[in-house]
Amino acid sequence: MRLNAHLANLPGNYLFAEIARRVKEYEAAAPRRLIHLGIGDVTQPLAPAIVQALVECAREMGTADGFRGYPPDQGHPFLRQAIIDADYAPLGVALDADEVFVSDGAKTDTSALPELLAADARVAITDPVYPAYIDANAMAGRLGRHANGAWTKLVTLPCSPDNGFAPEPPSTPVDLLYLCYPNNPTGTVLTRERLARFVDHARQTGTLILFDAAYKAYVTDPSIPRSIYQIEGAENIAIECCSFSKSAGFTGMRCAYTVIPRALQAELEGRRVSLNALWKRRIASRQNGVSYPVQRAAAAALSPVGQAQVAEQIRVYMDNARRIVTALEGAGLQVHGGINAPYVWLRAPHGRDSWQFFDLLLHQAQVVGTPGSGFGPSGEGYFRLTAFNTPDNTQEALERMLAVL
Ligand code: MLT
Repeated sequence: MRLNAHLANLPGNYLFAEIARRVKEYEAAAPRRLIHLGIGDVTQPLAPAIVQALVECAREMGTADGFRGYPPDQGHPFLRQAIIDADYAPLGVALDADEVFVSDGAKTDTSALPELLAADARVAITDPVYPAYIDANAMAGRLGRHANGAWTKLVTLPCSPDNGFAPEPPSTPVDLLYLCYPNNPTGTVLTRERLARFVDHARQTGTLILFDAAYKAYVTDPSIPRSIYQIEGAENIAIECCSFSKSAGFTGMRCAYTVIPRALQAELEGRRVSLNALWKRRIASRQNGVSYPVQRAAAAALSPVGQAQVAEQIRVYMDNARRIVTALEGAGLQVHGGINAPYVWLRAPHGRDSWQFFDLLLHQAQVVGTPGSGFGPSGEGYFRLTAFNTPDNTQEALERMLAVL
């Protein structure tokens, strides 16, 4: 057999697997329990409306009339319509149920969607970035070789305080540009004007934008776009991925969705091809979708009662974020994000590098965070904290951190 060298030669471990490995190694000898502000995993229990839907659905599946087998490839129509009614209609974005694809996660979709493009498509990302985008394209052989900490064929758009974490569009031609806003890992957002600049650039250059909106539920400023389709013309060049993981506590339940407008088309061998039709073709061959009870639960999260309940959970996480920002700024640290996103991005104090700061917090404060360098070269010297733990744990983590800074 001949192995996939692109997969076999990936550098190191996946970021969160590497953190889990280091934490496990340390945990047995730790002098007190660890507090996790590392991976963005939610902690609040499922909202009552979601639990009720799951219970009712379990009963329904146990009856001859209510039993369901394979779900429709693209997702149940009731969920696709609920997504349009709850997430897009209020923004003034008109979509058809045919343009929504239900899946088990935004990570799954953002990793798989490049299959729509040529095998040697050129890819651009912001830096720092959610590492799954890079790994998926590296495994497919699109990024060339990894040398001196960089991929030879990957175009990177560095983000830092100098450009307000809002880079210019790529200056070299690319086929695919990943954007994630509210941003993971920096917790920053793009204004409507900055996002429009990317959309205009993509329309002029024929670039596909893959817009990861997994954290849109955390946007508190009404002037900040929650969907790329709020920008005129985006339906011609953008795919949007969204998730119930962080908006309704579904990291364990698994449900997400991707929007591919029918207007999104490209030339292939002299004819216009719809990316929506291509994706439909691809998922029919590759997957059997999300279980009926989970899709019912996701629809319950979008019902008026469900929305009010999950909004309260988001409020709790955003209070945590505010508390982290206030405490660390009060300690004199340079802090970004945490206002329209559940992530806080901070400069490691005293010139430490990201992993040195990780080790300091782990060994002296028993607090787990995420080293910024794990998200790319521009993350070196930075550190990410999540707001997804409980208020009590967040408070205790801050007290422990302030004692060792
Ligand atoms: C993160 O911590 O960056 C996210 O939780 C990872 C994910 O959503 O897969």
